[in-house]
Amino acid sequence: MDFLIAKDDLHNRRFAEQDAPELEPGQARLRVERFGLSANNITYAMFGEAMSYWKFFPAEDGWGRMPVWGFAEVAESGAGQLEPGTRVYGYLPPSSELVVQPARIDARGFLDASAHRAGLPAAYNGYARVETDPIYEAETEELQMLLRPLFFTSFLIDDFLEDASLLGARTAVLSSASSKTASGLAFLLSRRDGVEVVGLTSARRKDFTESLGVYDRVVTYGEIESLADTPAVYVDMAGDAQVRSEVHTHYGDALMHSAVVGATHHDRMGAVPDSLPGPPPTFFFAPDRVAKRTTEWGREGFETRIAAAWRPYVQWCEGWLEVVRDEGPSALERAYLDLLDGKIDPAKAHVLSLPA
Ligand SMILES: NC(=O)c1ccc[n+]([C@@H]2O[C@H](COP(=O)([O-])OP(=O)(O)OC[C@H]3O[C@@H](n4cnc5c(N)ncnc54)[C@H](OP(=O)(O)O)[C@@H]3O)[C@@H](O)[C@H]2O)c1
Repeated sequence: MDFLIAKDDLHNRRFAEQDAPELEPGQARLRVERFGLSANNITYAMFGEAMSYWKFFPAEDGWGRMPVWGFAEVAESGAGQLEPGTRVYGYLPPSSELVVQPARIDARGFLDASAHRAGLPAAYNGYARVETDPIYEAETEELQMLLRPLFFTSFLIDDFLEDASLLGARTAVLSSASSKTASGLAFLLSRRDGVEVVGLTSARRKDFTESLGVYDRVVTYGEIESLADTPAVYVDMAGDAQVRSEVHTHYGDALMHSAVVGATHHDRMGAVPDSLPGPPPTFFFAPDRVAKRTTEWGREGFETRIAAAWRPYVQWCEGWLEVVRDEGPSALERAYLDLLDGKIDPAKAHVLSLPA
C-alpha cells in the first residue's frame, strides 16, 4: 500500500494498493515498519519538484510519495551480504514496502543504488543497520524516527555558527521557534557561553515555546520591533516573507547572516526583494557541512560527535514531547492533512505505520 499525494495539489491524496513486484537480481525488499511525521515531511512535498524529493520514491504520473524517516526490515534479499531480518533506519516512502538495490553493503549498512536515486544526495540514500548504528537504542526508536533528521540539521547549524564565531554577533534569532528543528538548535546554542537565543513564534505557541526553557527570549511574529538591534544572525525555519522582511528591516546592517533552513509557513513564502536590507538570505546546505566535517573529523569522528550531542538532547525531549502512535491509512491521512494545514500541537508528534 502506498500513500500518494498529487504533485500539483498537496491536499489531493489517495492510497493505492498493488501486488508486490518480483525482485530483480541483487534487489532487496524492505518492509516499512514505522515512520515519523512532522512539518519537515510537508516541506519535502512542497519542494518535491524543485529539490527533487519526489525522485526518491517514484510513483505513477502526477503523483508523489512524500519521503519519511523510519525503520524497516529486510523481508527478502537477493543481495549477498544483506540477510532477511536485518533491521535498518533510513529514508522511506509512506508505503508498506520499498524495493532497493543494495550496494556498498558492510557492517554499518548499505546504499540504495537504484538508478533513479543516482545523483541524489548520498545522505538520503544510506540505510543504517540498527545493531551497529551509534545513535540506535531500542528504547528511543520513536524519537529517532521523529527527531533524528531534524536534530542532524540543528547540530550542523549549531556547529556552523560556532565555527564562524556567530559571524561576529551575540544573538541568534530563530523563526518557527516552536518547531523541533528550531528548538533542537536552541537547545544546543543554549549550552554555549555568550549566545543569546531569541525565538520567534505565533502568539498561540508562545507559552509552549517559552516552556521549553531553551530560549533566552520568545517573542511573537507581531513583536519583532521590540527586539534590541545589536548584531544578530537569523536562522529561518518559517520561510515567511513578511517575517523575513521585518527581521531584515529591524536589524539592517546589524544582521550578520540570514540562513534559510525551512518553510513551515509554506503558504506565506515569497520572492526575496532586491531592496531587502541586510545580507542576502543564504540557503543552509547541510550536505556541504557534512562534507567539510567528515573531511576534517573523519566519518567516525563526525558520527561520534553527533551521537554524543544526541543523547542529552533526547533526554530533554522525553520531558516534553508526547509521541502519538497510530496506524493505518486513515490515521496517516488525518495526521498528514493536519500538518499540511498547520493544525499542529508542537508538544506532540506522530509515529505511523501502514498495513503490510
Ligand atoms: N534544510 C534542512 O536540511 C532541514 C532539515 C530539517 C528541517 N528543516 C526544516 O525545518 C522546518 C521545521 O521542521 P520540523 O519538522 O522541525 O517542524 P515541526 O516540529 O513539525 O514544526 C511545527 C511548527 O511549524 C510551524 N508550522 C507548521 N506548519 C505550519 C503552517 N501550515 N502554518 C503555520 N505554521 C506552521 C509552527 O511553528 P510557529 O508557530 O512557531 O511558526 C509549528 O509549531 C521545516 O520546514 C523543515 O523542512 C530543514
